[in-house]
Amino acid sequence: METTANNLVTVEKSKTSKIDQVDFDNLSFGSIYSDHMLVCDYKNGAWENPKVVPYGPVSLDPSAKIFHYGQSIFEGMKAYKDSEESTWLFRPLDNHKRLNISAKRLAIPEIPEDYFMEGLKALLKVDDQWIPKNEGSSMYIRPFIFASGQGFHASPANEYKFMICLAPSGSYFSGKVKVLIEEKYSRSANGGVGYAKAGGNYAGQFYPTQLAVEKGYNQVIWTDDNTHEYIEEAGAMNIFVRINDTLITGPTSDRILDGITRKSIIEIAKEEKIAVEVRKLTVAEVVAAAKDGSLKEMFGAGTAAVISPISGFGFKETDYDLPELEESYASLLKKRITDIQYNKAEDKFGWRY
Ligand code: COI
Repeated sequence: METTANNLVTVEKSKTSKIDQVDFDNLSFGSIYSDHMLVCDYKNGAWENPKVVPYGPVSLDPSAKIFHYGQSIFEGMKAYKDSEESTWLFRPLDNHKRLNISAKRLAIPEIPEDYFMEGLKALLKVDDQWIPKNEGSSMYIRPFIFASGQGFHASPANEYKFMICLAPSGSYFSGKVKVLIEEKYSRSANGGVGYAKAGGNYAGQFYPTQLAVEKGYNQVIWTDDNTHEYIEEAGAMNIFVRINDTLITGPTSDRILDGITRKSIIEIAKEEKIAVEVRKLTVAEVVAAAKDGSLKEMFGAGTAAVISPISGFGFKETDYDLPELEESYASLLKKRITDIQYNKAEDKFGWRY
């Protein structure tokens, strides 16, 4: 057993490695995991020291509150290798902050910044060889916290696990993304948990998304729960719409996740002198723009999705196709953000870590 320089994190290395079984040239998203994981237990009112241990199953009592009340939150991050094989993170402290915002909303104890950052760094160091080196691939990092404490009483648990798993990954979407604008179901409501990365926010989307997939769409674009008139987000990503030359995205709220890619794209677009409007956007405006030809682009933005162009959308049984542009905002902004992430360009914003 080793400990990190500051004695915070202990490291127990796996005796064997699965790395030889991995085809790094054909990575899917989030389906294979590195040799180690980080585990940190909350017991008796305090977080214990984080431990890097061999990757493997977690043993839980069937009465653990995660199973009954879904008390769980997560984050999505990535680590990138540059051409010199140095490893970079992108705005990791923002992920730590957002994890604690989610924690507060789900009555989960907040994780200290050094436990999060030192634990993550120790884990990435042990599994450094697992971080993909080929362009377009990266190490998807999944930090999460769940209620491991027992009890059927519907109240917060007294024990939790903070864990991080690493999944060398390729693209989230395998082809064109066609979306359905939702008119019936809702992802979130005012005063709810939509802004948190709570596991249940995602589970609640699966059924309406299944219905959309049966109709030939990949994702649902959620509209506001009250009127279904306003575009919100796509669940696995925030949404940007380009009408003529203006890029529009909805303001964050109780219902919309404060995406780190979203806010970075807004900054980069402004720097590129693209007109950006952060404002409420109605479905009617998007449909009218699709009809009169002023709707030029729609794309999703998220850690997993990066920037994923949308090829068309469905609304009220009608499909609208988007034009294929040679010089799209999506490709310009994707290049700008990935050049920063992979250390290929200057990082004026100070986001690389
Ligand atoms: C991410 O972009 O990292 C997310 O957490 C979305 C997830 C549903 C894959």
